[in-house]
Amino acid sequence: MKIDILTLFPEMFENVFSSSIIKRAINQKKVKIKIHNFRDYSIDLHHKVDDTPYGGGAGMVLTCQPIFDCVESLKTKDSKVILLTPDGIPYKQEIAYNLSKEKHLIFICGHYEGFDERIRSLCDLQLSIGDYILTGGEFASMVITDSIVRLLPGVIEEESHKNDSFNNNLLDYPTYTKPRNFRGMEVPEVLLSGDHKKIEEYRRLESIKKTQSRRPDLLEK
Ligand code: ADE
Repeated sequence: MKIDILTLFPEMFENVFSSSIIKRAINQKKVKIKIHNFRDYSIDLHHKVDDTPYGGGAGMVLTCQPIFDCVESLKTKDSKVILLTPDGIPYKQEIAYNLSKEKHLIFICGHYEGFDERIRSLCDLQLSIGDYILTGGEFASMVITDSIVRLLPGVIEEESHKNDSFNNNLLDYPTYTKPRNFRGMEVPEVLLSGDHKKIEEYRRLESIKKTQSRRPDLLEK
């Protein structure tokens, strides 16, 4: 998979993808991530990328030209162009699964007060990572990239994300490791029983109980 991220703040991405699982995925050539400063595409003498809003109002608005030119220079028939915006559709694990099957993703990070509405016409998908306003789409693109790369074949063991929270609309079951007793807190007996059927039943029940108490909205689905 190839991921291109368009931003005015490439320095925000320094080191973000250079550790842990994402770093390994890059080194193993499972994913290629490139950061582009769309200011470099501005044809304005002073590399301007924003202007005042028509109709008045506070703040500056990102203009079409640099973003259109940057996307058009990267886009192929295999590309999916994704805009990060608080008014996008809510990002979910199911979308991560679908996007992990794509060949090429292009993320556009908005910034400042907003962007020219016509930029949306470039996009196949508009995503929000939650009902709050970030200073720009940069952190959203990092979150989404991380969640997709871990799903690419061979990046982590398939077994590891088979039981992820949100699969089948359930939160993940609780897990324990050694020691068996830590400061009086015991590991549930059933996990020491060696009875795989019982363990599976226990885990499913715990998963349902946790979902019921923390995220009843998931069970309704
Ligand atoms: N840009 C600003 N806030 C955002 C959000 N919540 N999700 C995606 N992009 C954003």
